[in-house]
Amino acid sequence: MLSRLKIGCQRVIKKLLSSYIKKIDKLEFLLRCSYFNIRLPIVLGARAIEYDLANILIDEMIGNPRRTILELGSGKSTAVLAAFAAALNNDCEIVSVEGDQHHFVATTNELAKLGISSNNLQLLVAPYKEVSLNGREWRWYDLSCLESIKKPIDLLLVDGPPGDMQTMSRYPALPLLWNKLSNDCVIVLDDGDRPDEKQVARQWLKDFSQLQAEFIDTYKGTWIFRKSEV
Ligand SMILES: C[S@@+](CC[C@H](N)C(=O)[O-])C[C@H]1O[C@@H](n2cnc3c(N)ncnc32)[C@H](O)[C@@H]1O
Repeated sequence: MLSRLKIGCQRVIKKLLSSYIKKIDKLEFLLRCSYFNIRLPIVLGARAIEYDLANILIDEMIGNPRRTILELGSGKSTAVLAAFAAALNNDCEIVSVEGDQHHFVATTNELAKLGISSNNLQLLVAPYKEVSLNGREWRWYDLSCLESIKKPIDLLLVDGPPGDMQTMSRYPALPLLWNKLSNDCVIVLDDGDRPDEKQVARQWLKDFSQLQAEFIDTYKGTWIFRKSEV
């Protein structure tokens, strides 16, 4: 009886705390927008990245100016990356890859509505196709659209394909893009609390022994990978 009461209390406290933490994350994001004079009337969360992850990405962009950022899975995160890249470093190129035609159109329209029309942003549609990898067939982005990108990628945000498309949906990202990543590339995997993404993280660590991983207990869980110094 007492233990059930305790578990109930813990749930209520956790829920209350997480709603306050979410508000603080949103406030931090808005303060950063204001500091950099960025007008970005968007609401993050749900299918989009949460405010806490947006703040992590901004920290990564401030701490180590990026030249080429690749995002898998477009949406509100594209607007955040493009707006902050433009404010922080005009040389930074953002490439966002989207596998779903409808969502590609929706993101294109949203970016236009937000007035984000940077020359340094490329939103690319890369319809999913079958790819063989490690003895298994995967549905993954047709990466032929990336052929024109010659500079190494120094920030990779893996927020697609959708988790319900296949098991370990996001696994192919590293094996298929590894040769395009710079030596100091940071790889950010969203939805890190989900069992599939945990499995993807474990498998990447097995496949690429030079990776070091950090798990950040954000609202959805975030995995950050960096190549360790050899
Ligand atoms: C996690 S979402 C990507 C979200 C994006 N990075 C953002 O922050 O807005 C992964 C993919 O799910 C698909 N998607 C996004 N919103 C959706 C929705 N409301 N319903 C169905 N699919 C959606 C899109 O193809 C998207 O690339």
